[in-house]
Amino acid sequence: MTIHSDTVHTEIHDGIGVIVINNPPVNAISPSVREGIAAAAQELAKNLTVRAIVLHCAGSTFMAGADIRKLAGGPPPRPTTEIILSMERTPKLLVAALHGTALGGGLEIALGCHYRCAAPSTRLGLPEVNLGVIPGAGGTQRLPRLIGIASALDMIGSGKQIGAKEALSLGLVDRLLADGDVLQGALAYARELIAANTAIRRVSELPVPPLADAEAAFAAARKTFARSRRGELAPQKAVDAVHAAVTQSFAEGILTEARLFAECRAAPQSRALQHLFMAERQVGKLTGVPADARPRQIREVGVLGGGTMGRGIAMAFCNAGLSVTLVENDAPSLQRALGSIDEIYAASVTKGRLAAAERDACRARLRGSIEMQDFESADLVVEAVFEDMALKRRIFADLDRICRPGAILSTNTSALDIDQIAAATSRPQDVLGLHFFSPAHVMKLLEIVRGKQTSAEVMVVAGNCDGFIGNRMLIGYRRESEYLLLEGASPEQVDRALVEFGMSMGPHTMGDMAGLDVSAAGRRRRRAEGRLPPDERFGAIPDRLVESGRYGQKTGAGYYRYEKGSHQALPDAEVASLVQSLAQRFGVAQREISNDEIIARCIYPLINEGARILSEGMAQRPGDIDVVWTSGYGFPRTRGGPMQYADEIGLPVVLETLRRFERELGPLYWQPAPLIVQLVAEGKSFRSLN
Ligand code: 3HC
Ligand code: NAI
Repeated sequence: MTIHSDTVHTEIHDGIGVIVINNPPVNAISPSVREGIAAAAQELAKNLTVRAIVLHCAGSTFMAGADIRKLAGGPPPRPTTEIILSMERTPKLLVAALHGTALGGGLEIALGCHYRCAAPSTRLGLPEVNLGVIPGAGGTQRLPRLIGIASALDMIGSGKQIGAKEALSLGLVDRLLADGDVLQGALAYARELIAANTAIRRVSELPVPPLADAEAAFAAARKTFARSRRGELAPQKAVDAVHAAVTQSFAEGILTEARLFAECRAAPQSRALQHLFMAERQVGKLTGVPADARPRQIREVGVLGGGTMGRGIAMAFCNAGLSVTLVENDAPSLQRALGSIDEIYAASVTKGRLAAAERDACRARLRGSIEMQDFESADLVVEAVFEDMALKRRIFADLDRICRPGAILSTNTSALDIDQIAAATSRPQDVLGLHFFSPAHVMKLLEIVRGKQTSAEVMVVAGNCDGFIGNRMLIGYRRESEYLLLEGASPEQVDRALVEFGMSMGPHTMGDMAGLDVSAAGRRRRRAEGRLPPDERFGAIPDRLVESGRYGQKTGAGYYRYEKGSHQALPDAEVASLVQSLAQRFGVAQREISNDEIIARCIYPLINEGARILSEGMAQRPGDIDVVWTSGYGFPRTRGGPMQYADEIGLPVVLETLRRFERELGPLYWQPAPLIVQLVAEGKSFRSLN
């Protein structure tokens, strides 16, 4: 065994040299990996007893790519490109042994090998676009040479992973290994190649397989990615790079790739997407949980209430392989709930998203009941009945009586006080909020709300604490979107400006979809509790809309009107005159409003409230808030979430704008959060708190 760096050593197995990379957890390509591979390849090339070289990774995976933590600030991937080039020139047969995930720079290194074999479960991909960049170590030039333009465009532009079998059929992998020891399989494969006198095959020297009407394929790819990855720079640059593989020599193409990579890396989008990659992995890590806390096992779940949310929640658990008992009030309601679940499953099968057998397996895990007594053996119960404190407290007292000791009792409430609900039981330590997002079987986000007394053990089960973040921030966003109407903008203008900013939907379209009656009910409750701001404008527009029967899409009218059977939002003069009369009543002058003002007025309250949530410890890190907003509220991933966006603008500018709004619009909503003032004074950003 010869050691070449902290992470790379070589072994010789019966005339075959093996380069072993060992950089847990994912064998990311650090400088030591890169330099180790280069040194190892050089040495084995010189060794006269070595007839072929196998590139193998220790642990659970082949190299999963460049080190993402270094991607933004580190050196360009040029050194990796150079090493791959020199590796490829090795006069000895070079075989990559793939297992786990061969991604990004890892797959690019494999493409520099002469042949590739893979364990059957290997996943391969060039996911760089998901990080806002393109493959920067020759991937955009080698892949089309190996698998053709159309497949390369699809893989590089979408960032998707493919399985080993598909890779074999595309020609990306040359041999599928049998299950078992990857290194032994790869050594046997290398021996076969030697025995057959197989010639060295350098991908960079292959011609790109010609494609009739290639230009049309490039144009179609651009169009597809413009739609599926709206506003994203990297997929378009990826198409440019593959185009260069067709129109330029390999050496020129590599330079073009490097230039396009640098352009992507300099754009704020790539910082935003890399920030989210890390934030999404951080969000599950809890502070304040003792190291020895043992997660509770969950096999059986009870869901109470089979309305909009309960149905989706039941499906989410069935899809995750748990058995679920769904309890409704009475037989007709239960039938409605189960019928709707069957319809949703049937539609997934028709659309090809779910195999029929898989659907049957999921469905078989679900049983319906009208007896809460059936929660007796559940490990976790999720309550999703009407948003009514008295009802929820009654139900939790019943659950306390019915459920076994140690069961976790949770509520899907959108805003009610978890501690009050927990107080209805004799075991508040076992109570927490599980706030799902609609539709619950599709949306990835789950806010786990820790009550004052929720025990650490219960939180470990969940392993993903966000606190009540999203809806609290939504209040300011929605408020400003309404006030902008009073000041002269139209719902369409506000929605358009925010969609152009990147939100998946404008606030008024979203309100109409969710149902204005739902938020009106929440306001009524908060008003009764004296928790609304002292401001007659607050909620005035949606309250009036609801009074006049405009609940949104479900009644064919809300901020917009809808033709029968259509979800297309149409401007409505009736809304304009209702808004005008309210503006007059409140003495608000109507004026021209710019799109920039719309964006700042709606987005800055998110930043300001996010800062307060952080100071109060309701969120552990700025990144957690960003994950909530990008995965639950349609905030553009390319901006990284409200807190990352604030850092990108620069906190001094954010503070200055908040102060200007405070002067112009009053201090009620616009006082800068003390945390922002403090960070600016210290010359720090939110990022420093992650
Ligand atoms: N660099 C640095 N750290 C990485 C990493 C990478 N490329 N990929 C994963 N990690 C870290 C994670 O942050 C996590 O760290 P933690 O334990 O401290 O939280 C740990 O590895 C395990 O990751 P996951 O929790 O994601 O584990 P999974 O088993 O669920 O997934 C994976 C493994 C499929 C490899 C997934 O992590 C992944 O998709 N990684 C990113 C792959 C990628 O995007 N590669 C391209 C990089 S860009 C590039 O190569 C540029 C080149 O063209 C020049
Ligand atoms: P919904 O009105 O669609 O469904 C409530 C269901 O509960 C009804 O089917 C009703 O028959 C049933 N129910 C009422 N009392 C019951 C009882 N005692 N036993 C059994 N079933 C009973 O309401 P939705 O929208 O599903 O909301 C449920 C909860 O989820 C509420 O607390 C709401 O605030 C919260 N929530 C709603 C979201 C949404 O987008 N709709 C998002 C996140 C949370």
